[in-house]
Amino acid sequence: MAEERAFAVVTCTAPVNIAVIKYWGKRDDDLILPINSSLSVTLHQDQLKTTTTAAASRDFVEDRLWLNGKEADVGHPRLQACLREVRRLARKRRGGSAEDAAPLNLSYKIHIATENNFPTAAGLASSAAGYACLVSALARLYGVEGELSEVARRGSGSACRSMLGGFVQWQRGERPDGRDSLAHQVAPETHWPELRVLILVVSGEKKQVASTAGMQTSVDTSPLLKHRAEVVVPERLALMMQHIRERDFEGFGQLTMKDSNQFHATCLDTFPPIFYLNDISRHIISLAHRFNAHHGRTKVAYTFDAGPNAVIFTLADTVAEFVEVVRRSFPPATNGDQFVRGLPVGSASLPEELLTAVVMEPVPGAIQYILHTKPGPGPQPVDDASQHLLGADGLPRCRS
Ligand code: DP6
Repeated sequence: MAEERAFAVVTCTAPVNIAVIKYWGKRDDDLILPINSSLSVTLHQDQLKTTTTAAASRDFVEDRLWLNGKEADVGHPRLQACLREVRRLARKRRGGSAEDAAPLNLSYKIHIATENNFPTAAGLASSAAGYACLVSALARLYGVEGELSEVARRGSGSACRSMLGGFVQWQRGERPDGRDSLAHQVAPETHWPELRVLILVVSGEKKQVASTAGMQTSVDTSPLLKHRAEVVVPERLALMMQHIRERDFEGFGQLTMKDSNQFHATCLDTFPPIFYLNDISRHIISLAHRFNAHHGRTKVAYTFDAGPNAVIFTLADTVAEFVEVVRRSFPPATNGDQFVRGLPVGSASLPEELLTAVVMEPVPGAIQYILHTKPGPGPQPVDDASQHLLGADGLPRCRS
């Protein structure tokens, strides 16, 4: 048996994903098993990512966690479930043939620090990237490899899809123990090079019903959700995979919009009803339809999760024109220079017919900013030790 290490530290990054066939509703709340399969696009970490450092030491006296620099509760049941599962896999691996050069004692306490490179207040889904990153970092710390989407799923359902890049399906599975409820890559991030994503961050109210509680009420009360899970999603999933395989934006975009709309319809069908879309979200929906109607085909497709922010899928050749349409429709209130972030956006001058047909009454300040990104890879290890969020003492590094 090799000598045990007294201290180990690793860092990983993980991406956000956005579903085009939505997950909404569990058949097992504890194991986080969904009532239907779902499909998502993993977004590029150059624009949106979580970074997590995990350290284990003989000298740590308790498990500790820091979220964006602030100490947080490490006892959260979902976090504990992920930790337990990764340690179980590590034990299993050690019991087998694979022998670690310098095994890490599984009873050492751990310190975890995690940070997002985007404002949490922006209401962008952070739990998927967060749990995918936590599980990737813990697995690396303990030398566990292979299928980890099952572990990430225990943190947050949508997190299992952030364990892979590109286009990802989360198969609902059939088994009561969830061993077959896993994420699979449908196509890598290089599959559709022209595909772009614009996140329209809507200003204002942040108070919403959390997804976990919302979907529970939906499962209990919405007959539409039951029909969706049993009949609609299986058909749509097969279709969506075909559109992706064929890089058919017309089909992909239409189905993305329909599925977002049906998800929000199940929210309205929930009793008492849940509202995630607001007036600005609805403005964006109408704008997208007018834009497509003007062009006579689907050039942009919207989708919304459990909040008012819009995610727009489009192709590279449409980005500049649509961003200009959004700027005219929702003129930036302040710092107009920061209105478009992420990947560069070229300038576009809009033809008069387009302006008249698409831009109706402008709503100043309704959109805080637009983030331009594209599909990207799954979690990545960070080997540069200067990037660790925890210092050699196992405490968060002071950052400038
Ligand atoms: C609307 O994964 O956040 O974004 O499993 O309870 O943690 P829990 O829920 P979560 O739900 C995401 C719901 C959604 C749709 C989706 O991402 O598929």
